[in-house]
Amino acid sequence: MSTSASVAPEHGVASGLEGVPAAETALSDVDGETGRLILCGLELVDFVARHGFESAAARFWTIARGEPVSAETPDAVRAALGQARAAAFIQFEALGPAFEGLTLSEGLRLGLASLAEGERAHLAVTGAVPVFLANLARHHARKAPIAPQPDLPHVEDFLRMLRGSPAGATDIQALTTYLVTVMDHGMNASTFTARVVASTGAGLVGAIVGAYAALTGPLHGGAPEPVLAMLDAVGRPDRARSWVEDALRKGERLMGFGHRIYKVRDPRADVLKAALEKLKPSGERLELARAVETAALDALKRHKPGRKLETNVEFYTAMLLDGLGMPRAAFTPLFAMGRVVGWSAHAFEQRRIGRLIRPASLYVGELPP
Ligand code: ACO
Repeated sequence: MSTSASVAPEHGVASGLEGVPAAETALSDVDGETGRLILCGLELVDFVARHGFESAAARFWTIARGEPVSAETPDAVRAALGQARAAAFIQFEALGPAFEGLTLSEGLRLGLASLAEGERAHLAVTGAVPVFLANLARHHARKAPIAPQPDLPHVEDFLRMLRGSPAGATDIQALTTYLVTVMDHGMNASTFTARVVASTGAGLVGAIVGAYAALTGPLHGGAPEPVLAMLDAVGRPDRARSWVEDALRKGERLMGFGHRIYKVRDPRADVLKAALEKLKPSGERLELARAVETAALDALKRHKPGRKLETNVEFYTAMLLDGLGMPRAAFTPLFAMGRVVGWSAHAFEQRRIGRLIRPASLYVGELPP
């Protein structure tokens, strides 16, 4: 769209596209005013209670492809993901030296980008994330790689590869709750990226790599690590108030608070908090987190009146993943382990729509003389 240079930017576009519907979707709905999240037609708590990783993925993909409910069954997904993990391990070993010098997150980006496109690319990428992630974390800890066991459930096999020993039911359940909770969330930045790439007719692996890059920024999926850094810096519950005040006075953002859509508490924070409590984290750590949360909410109300800044998903994500003993560098890749299901489902939906996403821009530069 070409316009006169006299159009002032403040009269032009919302620079974050806030409130602009960019697609129709049957996958999830986020109501930020009431704090409600619907996943595949169910309230978040019901979806999480009803589905494990494989059945949740089956539900997302089936809806996204507009297929009858029985088309991609949880058992079929479980078997296919097992095969995909085995294939990804061969790829991991082949890439070997290419991972040298890369962070865990950069290594995962490389691993995903190395996958071949194809009919079953959604399974290949979803199966690959835990294999690359677990074995990159092992590599960083100077431990030998561990091959997947394709007959195991997806989350259980991931924990086994990462830790080198079988995981207990409580840990498997807690991580499953996390991964299913974050599988999809409306038109967030990474999902939008996946849809834009898919709309050009590019392959699904390309859409996922683009989405993953978008996820890694601290304003999106990169916040949990800084949340723990903040808790470390606060150190003791009695220091929470002064630390938070100080940070806000310096104009810093408190990680784990605020959201573009939610103007009330993020419903995912409560689901993750409940999962965290089942893990029975150390009382001290929980007390510190509670003190920081209370102090932050109180200070944000005073420093940013009218902004409605509440606890977001990343705050309890950080606590839950820390409670599971996950390395901090693995937090954003772990988010991707769940969200990859949503990204691929959105790419399928976008393909069915079959229309190139190509918005307009407002020209605010100089006009030729
Ligand atoms: N701490 C302090 N101030 C904040 C915070 C925060 N966490 N979040 C927003 N604000 C303030 C801004 O400084 C701004 O104040 P001002 O108007 O006085 O300048 C006001 O609130 C509005 O901020 P925006 O950036 O316009 O709000 P936006 O909708 O873009 O913010 C975002 C959303 C990016 C998540 C923001 O709240 C933030 O930076 N939070 C911290 C990082 C974080 O937790 N990220 C994870 C998000 S969840 C997810 O993506 C999975």
